[in-house]
Amino acid sequence: MNSYIELLESNQIEKKEFISACTNPENHNISAELKNEIISLNKNLKYEIHDYPLIFIGMGTCGLASGADKVKTAIEKELLKLNLKAQIIPTGCIGYCAKEVIVDIKLPGNLRISYGEITPNDIPKFIRKTIVEQDIYREKVLGSFGNGIEGIKNISDLPFFRRQKKIVLENCGIISPLSIDEYIVNGGFSALSKILKSYSRKDVVDDIIKSGLRGRGGGGFPTGKKWEFAYNQKSEIKYLICNADEGDPGAFMDRSVLESDPFKLIEGMIIGAYAIGACFGYIYCRAEYPLAIERLENTIHQCENYGILGENILGSDFNFKIKIKKGAGAFVCGEETALIASIEGKRGMPKPRPPYPAVSGLWGKPTVINNVETFANITSIIKNGGEWFAKIGTESSKGTKVFALSGMVEFSGLVEVPMGITLREVVFDIGGGIPNGKKFKAVQIGGPSGGCLPDSVLDTKVDYESLKQVGAMMGSGGFVVMDEGTCMVDVAKFFLTFIQNESCGKCVPCREGTKRMLEIIERIPISYKGTTNKLDQLQRFKGIIHLERLAEVIQDTSLCGLGQSAPNPVLSGLRYFKDEYESHLFDRECPAGVCKELLTYKVITEICNGCGLCARKCPSEAIVGEAKHPYTIVESKCIKCGMCIETCRFEAIEAN
Ligand SMILES: Cc1cc2nc3c(=O)[nH]c(=O)nc-3n(C[C@H](O)[C@H](O)[C@H](O)COP(=O)(O)O)c2cc1C
Ligand code: SF4
Ligand code: SF4
Repeated sequence: MNSYIELLESNQIEKKEFISACTNPENHNISAELKNEIISLNKNLKYEIHDYPLIFIGMGTCGLASGADKVKTAIEKELLKLNLKAQIIPTGCIGYCAKEVIVDIKLPGNLRISYGEITPNDIPKFIRKTIVEQDIYREKVLGSFGNGIEGIKNISDLPFFRRQKKIVLENCGIISPLSIDEYIVNGGFSALSKILKSYSRKDVVDDIIKSGLRGRGGGGFPTGKKWEFAYNQKSEIKYLICNADEGDPGAFMDRSVLESDPFKLIEGMIIGAYAIGACFGYIYCRAEYPLAIERLENTIHQCENYGILGENILGSDFNFKIKIKKGAGAFVCGEETALIASIEGKRGMPKPRPPYPAVSGLWGKPTVINNVETFANITSIIKNGGEWFAKIGTESSKGTKVFALSGMVEFSGLVEVPMGITLREVVFDIGGGIPNGKKFKAVQIGGPSGGCLPDSVLDTKVDYESLKQVGAMMGSGGFVVMDEGTCMVDVAKFFLTFIQNESCGKCVPCREGTKRMLEIIERIPISYKGTTNKLDQLQRFKGIIHLERLAEVIQDTSLCGLGQSAPNPVLSGLRYFKDEYESHLFDRECPAGVCKELLTYKVITEICNGCGLCARKCPSEAIVGEAKHPYTIVESKCIKCGMCIETCRFEAIEAN
């Protein structure tokens, strides 16, 4: 027997009993022969018994971007060359993106050992050491899955993993995202099977309410309450939508779940559909996520084959189908009413609420929209009970939160932390702090709707309310760390430019107001040197005076969350980094050395050997001198393009 589908097809097991019979055959009334077959299949699927070495390769987008495909090809070639037999299993991402390409080796009867930063050049030595000599490739070992190998840490004791608590990401990077059998043997679909056997629809809603789960898509609305509204609607047709639009700059949590454990998402969606009484669902995923879409298609296909999606799911009278809708990647299409319009084939523009989608959503029918991470929490809640989940986290924020930790941090990646952990612990304990001996400056949390938080509030807890209090928000999970080389005016410019480009243009405060805000911010780092235009300088001060008032109007009068939160990055900058704004405004300096127009370029005469390369490259002939003597920059002619710094091979030009 190779797979559970063969069991299903041999029809010896009732569909209702299928999942528990496959994972727990001892308790079922089946022949001893079949029992033994299932037990041995389960051991294979769990990699407890195998005849050949197993090679797991992290092949999420991060792994592939680091060359996982090339590593896989190199491994295949090497195995062929040495005439070695081994099974290669592509997995998703375990979260430690900084260490990609990650390859795990498991020899028969041994622990699985993980190796990081593997390149094709490593492969001949790596295969010889790990498979031929059955030893450890110490140069690149990360850790083992379990204890017992001298000198090798258990992977969960590495600083990057130690403080994490994995619920959503429990299978990511561990099991194959391509195999329904592997998902089932690791506890998959047991939550679905449990509710179909013994929960009424209301029981499911109540359990989710009890858990205290709040939506992970940004707003943090209680998921159980949302389901209850939809459950209470009297309608023949209801819809369920998974929001996988994920547009926040710096965020990649949803993509990683879709690529690494898509079955968990689908199971959460089926449970949601059962609870509210929906028979049709959509996954709205941006087309820029081709790998995620490919894996979702494979997942849906396998679930249909197994009778887990479609008519009479697992022998019940419940029907549910899922379709993928590819979004074109407009940020505003993540807003739920715009997303609904987009699925209906209209231009993705938000609509005023109420009515809320739970009452009147897709094609006017009751619709529940939840985020990928929200759905990915559901199976664990059902398996362990709402009370179990409610015990994790803080008073108002239960469970865990997945963050995409990126920027100036030693170990970037995907981390899942219990609510209540502090921002400092995430940056320094999990992320390993700031690389290259630089100082921490800020963490940008909550995407364009969030804010930049300085060291003084780093002890804030990860909790919806606490983050709001300090001027940021949980958002969907972007967590961008910035060091002293980041200019906060520049950061504000980046987010406002993003918002300005992404505004759907429906309402004036968002469309025009963010444009004015961006103009004001753009004027701050302009030098005006060489021009006599006093009006420009006057406008700079006038703009700054009106900035906060303009921000308030945009917040109060915009229709959707995009406009309502657009000023947040600027406001948090003014709140925590006022000095930096003042340096730009009054001293005409950029302390971080980022705003080129405010920098003065100088040749360090002690280092310059007079090669003259910079003078030849300078587009404004601002560099003068004679060969073999130090050159000089004529400040009034310099247009601050930075070309001289890029050109000089001796680092003889500085800007500050
Ligand atoms: C401009 C804008 C963009 C949004 N983008 C997303 C997104 O990419 N993914 C997401 O799940 N929610 C996004 N949201 C939030 C959704 O509108 C909605 O609240 C969420 O999908 C509900 O799911 P949840 O309750 O599980 O969080 C966005 C909201 C706004 C205002
Ligand atoms: S706030 Fe902005 S994005 Fe939202 S509806 Fe108005 S113009 Fe469109
Ligand atoms: S910054 Fe540009 S314009 Fe100024 S001196 Fe260097 S190369 Fe010339």
